[in-house]
Amino acid sequence: MLRHFATRSTCALLLLLSAACNDEPTAPSRDELIAQLRTAAAAAALAPPPPPATASPEALALGQALFTSKLLSGNRDTSCATCHDPLFATTDALSLSIGTGGVGRGPNRQLTPLRRLQARNAPDLFLRASNLQTALLRDGGVTRLEEGTFTPPEEAEQPYREGIAGLFSAVALFHVTQRFDMRGNAGENAIDGTPNEIAAIDEDDWHSMWDALAVRLVSDAQMRPLIVAAFPGEAPESLSLERLFSALEAFAAQAFDSRETPFDSFLEGDDSALSDQALRGALLFSTAAGCTSCHNGPLLADNAFHNLGVPFIGLGQEYEEPYDFGRASQTERTTDRYAFATAPLRNTATTGPWMHNGAYTTLEAAVRHHLDPRDALLRYDWQQLDPLLQSTWHGAPIDNARLLSTLDPLVATPVTLTDRDFDDLIAFLREGLTDADALDRVATIQAP
Ligand code: HEC
Ligand code: HEC
Repeated sequence: MLRHFATRSTCALLLLLSAACNDEPTAPSRDELIAQLRTAAAAAALAPPPPPATASPEALALGQALFTSKLLSGNRDTSCATCHDPLFATTDALSLSIGTGGVGRGPNRQLTPLRRLQARNAPDLFLRASNLQTALLRDGGVTRLEEGTFTPPEEAEQPYREGIAGLFSAVALFHVTQRFDMRGNAGENAIDGTPNEIAAIDEDDWHSMWDALAVRLVSDAQMRPLIVAAFPGEAPESLSLERLFSALEAFAAQAFDSRETPFDSFLEGDDSALSDQALRGALLFSTAAGCTSCHNGPLLADNAFHNLGVPFIGLGQEYEEPYDFGRASQTERTTDRYAFATAPLRNTATTGPWMHNGAYTTLEAAVRHHLDPRDALLRYDWQQLDPLLQSTWHGAPIDNARLLSTLDPLVATPVTLTDRDFDDLIAFLREGLTDADALDRVATIQAP
């Protein structure tokens, strides 16, 4: 026994010097893994995101008030935070979101009569106001053009006006016009009994909806002083919703900043930031598992759209029932069907259900899907879904064939990982990409 120990420790000593004591092929040392990961990370342009722009405390206070204000919904019952809930890492923890008229919070939220379930899962908002993306929404419907102007989704009848602060607030301007998100149905009264004047506006007249919401905000007793403080020297009545939303943009950039994950520390040069397991997982992510073909750059997302063959669940888009054509809804190219934006991955372990429609309720299943989409589709377990959604899975052979007809070639060849490799990959996502400080900061956001 003693001898055994002696040999082992001599070997350990030798290993430190030369890695020469093992009969089996030598596993790479931690230093070697670190060096390989630094090379692979540089090749995929992985880097911590830049810090957010500074903003005045008054603008941030107004921005927080706007994010949590139910005044932005026609029926005065839904705020941005309803679906991007600070308690659920800026999601609602539902597969598919429930907008105005819904009751309950987060995963307990319920649909009520005359409402429609959203076609898509509410994404988290981390780094979405960082201006690192050229488009937002799962199908890239809201886009920034070169000149810093923005285009709304295809179905919009009116272009955006001048003066939008960034992509994030361009999305907010879109959300407030949508009946089942925030606006409500014509003829409805708001929950306080007042008529819903926003829902009464002509369907295509987004500009009038924005103007009516600006009137609501500046005439609200709590909101008005915040507006006056954030825009000193300007008459509140002269401020458009676009201008007011510049405060929302500034708040979102600060509040949903996230660039202090262990992996970010590693990228900044701290060799000890990742555990051995997360380090091995990060290397797989950036090499053999092929994740950085799409999850690359500072957001771990390539600003592009890919069809991963994610199971069809839910009601689809109103205009494409029962499907959601994804990117093709914007480009009208059949080859773009079922392609969705690559998801940024910081804090992803906390933002389930996963994928554009929340088809997967565990991180493991969402990752496993990527490794062999055809197989995952055939084996899809609909029982993981909320009972309300179970019957909305379209998994007949014809549906699967449709979905797979435009499968992205980057995921068409199955990737085989050992169980240990798979666990390492998950450890990287869970430990390496979770920013505990950012999550804590977000969880403190409350309506003022
Ligand atoms: C009814 C729930 C709901 C409400 C309320 C809501 N959102 Fe969303 N949000 C979603 C869903 C669902 C999506 C994805 C929609 C899509 O891709 O078509 C989304 C997408 C976004 C995105 C784009 C994220 C990305 O990665 O593409 C941003 C930014 C955003 N919302 C901000 C806001 C803001 C700001 C408000 C308040 C003005 C708001 N949301 C209100 C559900 C909601
Ligand atoms: C072909 C491009 C591509 C490759 C390769 C790829 N992904 Fe993805 N990934 C995406 C797209 C696109 C989405 C969003 C899918 C959707 O919304 O339906 C996504 C979503 C995800 C999600 C869910 C995020 C969320 O918030 O819902 C995780 C986790 C993820 N990818 C991890 C990985 C890992 C780990 C790998 C490597 C094994 C990988 N991805 C490889 C394109 C890719």
